[in-house]
Amino acid sequence: MMRKRILAVLFILTLLPLSMAAPTAEVAQQQQQQQQYQPSVGQAGKDVIWVPTPPELIAAMLDMAKVTPSDYVMDLGSGDGRIVIAAAKRGATALGIEYNPEMVELSKLNAQKEGVAGKASFMQADIFETDFSKATVITMYLLPDLNLKLRPKILEMKPGTRIVSHAFTMDDWEPDQTANVESRTAYFWIVPAQVAGTWTMQAAGGPTEMTLTQTYQKIDGALKSGGKDLPLKNAVMEGARISFSVGDTPTATRLYTGVVNGNTMSGAMKAAGGSDVKWTAARR
Ligand SMILES: C[S@@+](CC[C@H](N)C(=O)[O-])C[C@H]1O[C@@H](n2cnc3c(N)ncnc32)[C@H](O)[C@@H]1O
Repeated sequence: MMRKRILAVLFILTLLPLSMAAPTAEVAQQQQQQQQYQPSVGQAGKDVIWVPTPPELIAAMLDMAKVTPSDYVMDLGSGDGRIVIAAAKRGATALGIEYNPEMVELSKLNAQKEGVAGKASFMQADIFETDFSKATVITMYLLPDLNLKLRPKILEMKPGTRIVSHAFTMDDWEPDQTANVESRTAYFWIVPAQVAGTWTMQAAGGPTEMTLTQTYQKIDGALKSGGKDLPLKNAVMEGARISFSVGDTPTATRLYTGVVNGNTMSGAMKAAGGSDVKWTAARR
């Protein structure tokens, strides 16, 4: 009996050092942080190296894009996740696409630490193989040739989608806005609706013809009136919203505003001193 007790005590004593060494949750987290992957600025990436965007510029980029909780923000080449996390902190749903799997894991940990893991997610993928068409805001810090390679896909996105690029432009697609923070620049574009072509417009005075030319967000054209071509003035395309005026004198000026939806447009026309008159147009 006595021998059995001694053996039991000895057995428990052999287990003691193990149980004492078992880490608490806090110690485990500290150990995990110590072992955490440490990226280095300038490290190789699939198509571009990793260089993080500074927080002040991220704030300016998200301000230019007017990110709100109703947005779905995607960062193409998301690095350590900082843009995605900043967007999630503004209440947006945000997704980072990053080729380097270790950066993806690091981003997930960073999102957890910042308390936005529910809004910020990360996907290990190649940006050139990924469907980003559902995003309402795209952010990127890539290279000029990579921006250009993405441009056709970006221009096919829903009109009104906002694009922000740190440092690099879109060649001849001029930005709608720029932000300078210290020595860095971010560029902002709104994807324009495609409106080039001939349209039949229905307005108060019966059907008329409108022709539009377009270079990205810049539009021009003319409206037929009484057999004459009236050139469009102050023509602006902002996402799906179009506006222009026709007429040479203040009393003859008519201001058109409308919204483009594929091959149709509709809106209101205001003449000097008059009330709004509805118009529609269909592409021929
Ligand atoms: C200049 S860093 C920008 C990181 C982050 N967007 C920021 O602004 O802080 C570019 C990132 O793109 C990633 N990358 C490069 N080529 C990629 C590709 N084809 N698909 C996905 N990610 C890529 C790199 O690993 C790197 O983390």
